[in-house]
Amino acid sequence: MNQETLPPHVLIFPLPLQGPVNSMFKLAELLCLSGLHVTFLVTDHIHTRLLKYSNIQSRFNAYPGFRLETISDGLPENNTRSGAELMEMFDSLKVKTKILLKDLLTSGKLHSDSRRPVTCIISDGIMGYTCDVANDVGLPIIYVRTISACCLWVFFCLPELIESGELPFSGDDLDTPIKSIPGMEGFFRRRDLPMFCRSGDLSDPNVNLYLPEATENSRAHGLILNTFDDLEGPILAQIRAFCPNLYTIGPLHSHLKYKLLGQSSSSPTSSNSLWKEDMSCITWLDSQPPKSVLYVSFGSLAVMTKEQYMEFWHGLVNSGSRFLWVIRPDAVNTDPTEIPLELSKGTEERGYIIGWAPQEEVLAHRAVGGFLTHSGWNSTLESVIEGVPMICWPYFLDQQVNSRYVGEVWKLGLDMKDTCDRVIIEKTVRELMEDRKDEFRKSADEMAKFAKQCLMEGGSSYSNLERLVKDIKSM
Ligand code: UDX
Repeated sequence: MNQETLPPHVLIFPLPLQGPVNSMFKLAELLCLSGLHVTFLVTDHIHTRLLKYSNIQSRFNAYPGFRLETISDGLPENNTRSGAELMEMFDSLKVKTKILLKDLLTSGKLHSDSRRPVTCIISDGIMGYTCDVANDVGLPIIYVRTISACCLWVFFCLPELIESGELPFSGDDLDTPIKSIPGMEGFFRRRDLPMFCRSGDLSDPNVNLYLPEATENSRAHGLILNTFDDLEGPILAQIRAFCPNLYTIGPLHSHLKYKLLGQSSSSPTSSNSLWKEDMSCITWLDSQPPKSVLYVSFGSLAVMTKEQYMEFWHGLVNSGSRFLWVIRPDAVNTDPTEIPLELSKGTEERGYIIGWAPQEEVLAHRAVGGFLTHSGWNSTLESVIEGVPMICWPYFLDQQVNSRYVGEVWKLGLDMKDTCDRVIIEKTVRELMEDRKDEFRKSADEMAKFAKQCLMEGGSSYSNLERLVKDIKSM
């Protein structure tokens, strides 16, 4: 077959973590639905877990143009690839995987009679070395950042923060306003900066990792963001000064759902879980009154101490609210036998605990009326599109920034950062689920409406995806 008549072929390479794999897999499906060929490249470690827990295998049949390919992250089997070892993974990817990526692209392994050689790379912008590889092999590259635009903008402004003397800071006056981030004057405080900014000096390895974001992201042909214009418009305008070719096409998970509905596809949307989803919670939710349940989950990476866990335990139980709580097997840094996992009589009817949830389905369930979250970006968007108000308890990175926007800018809930006290937890849950529920539901409903409009024909995310596909086809 004449290769020129075959569709363009995109290699998508996500950062090997649950959040980025989730959103970039949805992007892969969206591009397949637009008629492109996609190779989704994951590390061996992610591959093993996807095969074990997700329905990724069934997606192969849904898209003839889809392929899964694997690459090593260069780490030994027993490395946790999380917590303290996360930075080790970044380093290993940068050194070892970079070489393997170039080998893969030049090996001829990715094309066949019915598949063109790769015509474009889409990778996570935090892996800047992928741009070096793309340049070496003469391929165009588009970056994706799977965090919020507001956090990305904070990263872009790190050099200004340092130059103005606002970073590093010492002492514990975390309420000091931050002045040198354009667009965030007036409401942004030290405590809303990513957690690593609190270290008191610039030696934290995260500073090195995120300092070059502005120059790094402007190297690529374009930048895809999992957000929508009505949510982050003013900040997107700031980012455009560095990266004029922005494709805001989120929320990606809903964008995919809408496209599948539009094509009357009967196939379920993908589950890219790296843990086994406990579907029994849906049956439990089915028996609960509308909007009565607080869904509690701190994402895929956050780890709490036993003391913090106990404060949440008492706060939730004392709040009197119904709750569905996800406690990952590795979510508390203590021996699981040392913490209560069984609810007592009286609480067991209004509480349900599981190890991992089908989160999108949970947030879309009519019984869910609030989300106590760590403010990871995927979780935030999943909550926004379903109109579920949030209580934010951020853990690290972008989450401190996201939670400030949820509480102060978008008015979609309450930011509980830097506190972990059973009395405050109880009070905050009551405030969200009872005392101020109408106010929060109204703003959450409005934002959900904007999010949905962005995904309809003519909406910003819809049009930007069309532009992205057109640009890839012209490469
Ligand atoms: C963190 C960051 O906070 C995130 O913003 C960044 O991009 C990557 O690192 P994470 O802890 O994985 O990510 O949070 P989040 O971005 O919210 O992603 C978690 C994903 O896991 C969500 O898509 C959510 O639906 C899914 N999930 C979570 C489940 O499917 N079941 C659960 O029980 C919990």
